[in-house]
Amino acid sequence: MKEKLVVFSGAGMSAESGINTFRDSNGLWEKYDIYEIATPEAWNKNPELVTDFYNQRRKNILNVKVNQAHLEIAKMENLFEVTVITQNIDNLHERAGSSNVVHLHGNITLAKSSGPNPEKKYYPIKSWRLTKNDLCEDGYRLRPHVVWFGETVPMLMEAQNIIEQADYFLVIGTSLQVYPAAGLVHHAIKAKKKLILDPKVSEMQVPNDFLKIEMTATSGIIEALDLMR
Ligand SMILES: NC(=O)c1ccc[n+]([C@@H]2O[C@H](COP(=O)([O-])OP(=O)(O)OC[C@H]3O[C@@H](n4cnc5c(N)ncnc54)[C@H](O)[C@@H]3O)[C@@H](O)[C@H]2O)c1
Repeated sequence: MKEKLVVFSGAGMSAESGINTFRDSNGLWEKYDIYEIATPEAWNKNPELVTDFYNQRRKNILNVKVNQAHLEIAKMENLFEVTVITQNIDNLHERAGSSNVVHLHGNITLAKSSGPNPEKKYYPIKSWRLTKNDLCEDGYRLRPHVVWFGETVPMLMEAQNIIEQADYFLVIGTSLQVYPAAGLVHHAIKAKKKLILDPKVSEMQVPNDFLKIEMTATSGIIEALDLMR
């Protein structure tokens, strides 16, 4: 039986594909007020603005390419039972060939009901654009399948269970500032090796038992994966 490798990725994983992170300079938070576009209150106040913001993100994501780090992680399925737990709402891990991806904060290529039962069913969005005419079977307008600030993270317990079973744990491109996701790094209780790959790792609060590689995802991925073998 193959050993279990769990990869926990954040926005930095897709930075070299051309998708902005939130916190770096040129990050999305400098250009937008998150309370106006990524909260349930924002949706209630101005669903057009929110829909348009995510339409633009989706259009961008569909136009970019996977990077070498996404591809190398997918290839690790030859050696390990790999699960990717990503905070990213893009679908680049899947497009690179990873077959087991858990989206903690949703998947921008899917939509869900804006009514009282949003997690009941997810609907593929046919093009990059969701409109006010796209309705759910329950009659409510469809909203992006994204976990907004102030909402619970439905996949959190599943992610925690997966990380607890990991033999190897690799964290890539996350500032570890968005909770509750960031707390997951403390749940790799039986992992033989834990490693974090991020160009700003020296500025971050990382548990002592993690190896640190201070490089970008694409420049450090081979070294990181070699340390896992
Ligand atoms: N691609 C996406 O889907 C996307 C993009 C932006 C934000 N988000 C979401 O916003 C939230 C922000 O939290 P977060 O911790 O993921 O992101 P973050 O923006 O808080 O942190 C990004 C991290 O990536 C690192 N980084 C920057 N360039 C990198 C590179 N080339 N290689 C490796 N690391 C690099 C930074 O040093 C930083 O630590 C998350 O929910 C995140 O998924 C998603």
